[in-house]
Amino acid sequence: GPHISRTVADLRAQVKDWRRQGLGIAMVPTMGALHEGHLSLMREALSRADRCIVSIFVNPTQFAPTEDLDKYPRQLERDLERLAEVGVQLAFTPAPEEVYPKGFATKVVVGGPSAGLETDFRPHFFEGVATVVTKLFLQAAPDCAVFGEKDYQQLCVVRQLCRDLDIPVEIVGAPTVRDGHGLAMSSRNAYLDETGLAVARQLNKVLRNASAAIAGGADPETETAKAREALLQAGFRSVDYVAARESGTLAPWREETEGRLLAAAWLGTTRLIDNVEIAAR
Ligand code: PAJ
Repeated sequence: GPHISRTVADLRAQVKDWRRQGLGIAMVPTMGALHEGHLSLMREALSRADRCIVSIFVNPTQFAPTEDLDKYPRQLERDLERLAEVGVQLAFTPAPEEVYPKGFATKVVVGGPSAGLETDFRPHFFEGVATVVTKLFLQAAPDCAVFGEKDYQQLCVVRQLCRDLDIPVEIVGAPTVRDGHGLAMSSRNAYLDETGLAVARQLNKVLRNASAAIAGGADPETETAKAREALLQAGFRSVDYVAARESGTLAPWREETEGRLLAAAWLGTTRLIDNVEIAAR
């Protein structure tokens, strides 16, 4: 199985040893409860580097007090078995006090693609993500790091962060892994029962239909409004957003640019997100 580092000092010692041997290092940051989506990122990482570090850390600073920090699934033993199966060499599993010791008082705030979408509904989310990702990159100093397109805005924010702060980590985006019905794999799918799953599976369908219509020339405002309505019809309790954006900057989508259609919606007390490409016209 993988070497397990619980402290930054131990992680750094391992990385130093690998660097002495001239090995390339890739990283996959996660919050655990690993599924096939996470594993695909690790395989991508291992195809790009000699060694792969996976961090497993449920980051408290990206959860609002009202959110699911306490009930977020934690299953370290199973996760470590998964890492062994994929051939990951190191698991970084710090305790919260290791990452945020008493007196911790710094925040990383990214502009640009952080604006809107998730931030309209989870205002502190990307500060928490950017702060922990910056720390992980400084702790492990990998050559590259793999992030999923599933969290598309997060991927854009992390790219912006590394560009702006000259963090020398190449950010690699990897496609969303879905179940046989198009539902994006997510640790939060564990909260859903069979009825919930059936509704959840409509999210990607609705987005793909709207994306095809927009790519075919339909008005994005009309199509996103229709998609919102279709999600409520399908059984979602409420829809935070359905929005057509430029794929790089996440600015409002214009016909001549590559686009992304992004959505977040509530199914009971579970919040799901997904996104699809808008093919160029
Ligand atoms: P987490 O939700 O555990 O996701 C870890 C990584 O797995 C992210 O890059 C996410 O986009 C990717 N991922 C999740 N589901 C996926 C799927 N179905 N297909 C492909 N990739 C998928 O995202 C986070 O953790 C945290 O915000 C983190 C970056 C670790 C910072 O705390």
